[in-house]
Amino acid sequence: MGRFEEYVKEVMEWNEEMKKFMQTEQVDRDDEMWTKLDDLAEVMECMQQPGQLTNEQLLTLQSRVEELHDDMEDYFIKRQALGTIYMNEPFVEAGKHELPPLPYAYDALEPVISEEIMRLHHTKHHQAYVDGLNRAERKLKEARKRGDFSLVKHWSRELAFHGSGHNLHTIFWNNMSPNGGGRPSGKLLKEIERYFGSFEAFKKHFTEAAKAVEGVGWALLVWSPRARHLEILQSELHMLLTQWDTIPLLVLDVWEHAYYLQYKNERADYVNNWWEIVNWNDVEQRFLKAKQLMWKPS
Ligand SMILES: [Fe+2]
Repeated sequence: MGRFEEYVKEVMEWNEEMKKFMQTEQVDRDDEMWTKLDDLAEVMECMQQPGQLTNEQLLTLQSRVEELHDDMEDYFIKRQALGTIYMNEPFVEAGKHELPPLPYAYDALEPVISEEIMRLHHTKHHQAYVDGLNRAERKLKEARKRGDFSLVKHWSRELAFHGSGHNLHTIFWNNMSPNGGGRPSGKLLKEIERYFGSFEAFKKHFTEAAKAVEGVGWALLVWSPRARHLEILQSELHMLLTQWDTIPLLVLDVWEHAYYLQYKNERADYVNNWWEIVNWNDVEQRFLKAKQLMWKPS
């Protein structure tokens, strides 16, 4: 397939995705965006003959796609103002997390999960993680203000435990639906098949991982942005001092192998000196990339 045809195929897929998205968003059929997407699809139908695409046609197509991109962006900005996709102010102050509402009724997942469990799990357990996270964040804020970090180990543990609990439950609720089940489709299915071999192999691996979690915890399907592939992980409790659903920006290795030959057991000297070699430009680049990922705040 030629480069142009490849591009047309990509645009067609994008067009289909946008239509699906607009359907789920229940965008009014009279909206101009629908007409534009339909027009674009029509133009592309005409370009489906292999080898028939001229430069001129390609340029027309590109400008239409760009126009639609802009429209979609405007749409997102408008939605942002409404607060349905992203909140107006996607910034949660320390200690200000709130329990997000369930995206369905408490009895909606019956008979697989009973109403009683869902109600208890959401209103008691998840609420406790939100409260614990808020408490840890407030305590650490106070510690920063006073310059007193004598309890930093304790509150860091609390921050990780309750923060991961809150984040994972928020993902978990949305990962389920009364209309769920079956198989994934589209790009996700392709990615699952590419890495795990087949959907069945993935399902078996995930199931076994979930059953074999030591004590209490989670099974997770994750995306690794560096390896650019999916992976299945287990997590005991919610964490081992991590907060799932966050992205590291600046890390400091304090394993002994990182400093012992030079600093012996003076880890504090190593940490203090380390600030002189931090590459803030790299940290900023990681921050800017990470910031592009937007979840609805909760
Ligand atoms: Fe839970």
